[in-house]
Amino acid sequence: MGNSSSNRDVERFLELLRHRASCRSYLDREVEDWKLDNCLEAARLAPSACNKQPWRFKIVKDLDLRARICADGLLPGLPMPWLAEAPVIVVVCSEENIVTHTLAPLVSGVKYQLLDLGIAGEHFVLAATVQGLATCWIGWFKEKRVREILRLPRRLKIVSLISLGYPAAPLEQPAKKEISEILVD
Ligand SMILES: Cc1cc2nc3c(=O)[nH]c(=O)nc-3n(C[C@H](O)[C@H](O)[C@H](O)COP(=O)(O)O)c2cc1C
Repeated sequence: MGNSSSNRDVERFLELLRHRASCRSYLDREVEDWKLDNCLEAARLAPSACNKQPWRFKIVKDLDLRARICADGLLPGLPMPWLAEAPVIVVVCSEENIVTHTLAPLVSGVKYQLLDLGIAGEHFVLAATVQGLATCWIGWFKEKRVREILRLPRRLKIVSLISLGYPAAPLEQPAKKEISEILVD
C-alpha cells in the first residue's frame, strides 16, 4: 500500500464494508481450511491494549457440538434456528492478563479485552467477507453452558460466537446512521 494507495483502493475497501452484513441463512457447504486460515491470520494481526493479544479462537465444525450449542447454549427470547445451518461456529474467547485486563480497567473504567476481541473478531469477519463467506456475531448465548459443552478451561472467557459459512441468499445491510449523526460537536 504506502504512497501508491489510491481512491480505487479506498473505494474497494469501503465496498467490502458495505457488502458485509449479518447472515442468518447458510448453504450446506463446507468452509475450506485455507479460507479459515486467512481469517485467523487477519485476526492475529489486530491491535490490542499493551499488545497482550488476549484473543483465543475455538473453531467448532463438529456437527454434534454445534447441535448442542444450538439446543442448549443460546439464551431464550431470541430464537436463532438458522445457527444450526452454519457449518462453523467460531467461539471468541479472551485469556486475560491481571494487570491489563483487571487492574487497568479499575483505574480507567475501560475493559480493554472487550475492545481487543471486538477488533480481532471484526478482522476475522472482514477476511471472511472478502473471501465470499458470511458471518453473524452472536452475543446472546449462555457463556458457562457453551464453555462446558466445549470443555474450555475456566481461564478462557467466551465473549462472543460468530457463525461462519456461505450465504444462502444475497445479504442486505440494514440502514446505518449518517456521518453527521455520529459526529459529536
Ligand atoms: C456484539 C454483537 C452481538 C450480536 N448478537 C447477535 C445475536 O445474538 N443474534 C443475532 O441474530 N445477531 C446478533 N448480532 C448482529 C446484529 O444484530 C447486527 O450486526 C446489526 O443488526 C447490524 O446489522 P449488520 O451486521 O448486517 O450490519 C450481534 C452483533 C454484535 C456486533
